[in-house]
Amino acid sequence: MKHLLSTHDLSVEQMISLLETADYMSEINTRSISKVPALRGKTVASVFFEDSTRTRLSFETAAKRLSADVLTFSAASSSVNKGESLRDTIETLSAMGVDAFVVRHKSSGAPQQITQWTNASVLNAGDGWHQHPTQALLDTYTITRSFGQLDSMKGRTIAIVGDIKHSRVARSDIDMFTRLGAEVILVAPSALLPSHIENWGVTTASSIDEVINSVDVLYMLRMQRERISASNMPSLREYSSHYALTVERAARLSPHALVMHPGPINRGIEMMVDPSDLPGSRILQQVTNGIAVRMAVLFTLLGGDLTATATGGTV
Ligand code: CP
Repeated sequence: MKHLLSTHDLSVEQMISLLETADYMSEINTRSISKVPALRGKTVASVFFEDSTRTRLSFETAAKRLSADVLTFSAASSSVNKGESLRDTIETLSAMGVDAFVVRHKSSGAPQQITQWTNASVLNAGDGWHQHPTQALLDTYTITRSFGQLDSMKGRTIAIVGDIKHSRVARSDIDMFTRLGAEVILVAPSALLPSHIENWGVTTASSIDEVINSVDVLYMLRMQRERISASNMPSLREYSSHYALTVERAARLSPHALVMHPGPINRGIEMMVDPSDLPGSRILQQVTNGIAVRMAVLFTLLGGDLTATATGGTV
C-alpha cells in the first residue's frame, strides 16, 4: 500500500491490520515519553487547502510521535495567493524531499491527481464530498474498541444522522462500517440524501425518533452549510425538529449506545445537548484515537521500523 486515497483502497484484512497497529500506537501514546524513532529520517508534508483543526493537528502530532520531520503548508499563507498552481506547489515541496503528502482539498479527486505529480505517498485528509478515509478508520477504531473487539461491529446498528449528501465522512464510514458487518441506517431529509444509494447496503429513516431507541451508535453529522445551496435546504428550525439530538431524545438511547460526531459540532443545530452531559459520548475519544490511527497509517505506508517502537527506543 503506497497511498491511502479512499476506504475503497482497503481490503477488510488491511482495515483490521491498521486497527491492530493503532492498538500498538495507542500504547505508545500512554508512555511518559510518547515518542519513538520509527519514522526517523522521513519527512511528512501536511498540505491543507481547506480549513481543519482535528485532522491537521492529528496527522502532524502522529508524524512527530514517530519522529518524522513535518513540513506544514497552509494555502492561506502561501504562494497560492500569488497564483501558484496545485501542481507547482506539490512539485516544489517534492523537490524539498517529501516522503508523504497529507492532503486536504475542497475538490473531490485532488489527492488522486497529486499522485501523478510526486513519487511520495499521498494520504487523503478529506477531499470535497468524496472521502475521508482516516476518519472512517478512527471511527471504526472507536466503535470496536468501545464494544470490546473488532467482531463487535458485526450486527451492530449504526444510525448516521444529518447531512449525508455533502459528507465525505458519511461516504467513508458507510463503506467501512457495512463491509465490517454493521447495519447502517441513514437518517436525513430527502434533500440531504444522495440520489443513488440503492447499492450502498443501507436503509433510511426520515426522523431520528424512528431509530433512537434501538441504535448501538448514533453518529451525528455536521450540517455543512458552506456546501448547501439555499434552495434545497430545510429551514434550520425544521431540520433541528426532526434531526437534532436533544436532551429528551438522548434520554431514549439504550444505556450502551455510543454518541459520535466527527467535529466540528454546530451546537444548537444538530447538537442541542452538551456532549459532556452524555455518558455514551465518544466525541473526544474519537479525537484521541485519531492520533493512534494516523500513526498506524503513516507507519504502514512509510515502512516504519517496528523494532524502533519498543519501550526505550532512542529518539
Ligand atoms: N473531522 C474533521 O475532519 O475535522 P476537521 O475539519 O477539524 O479536520
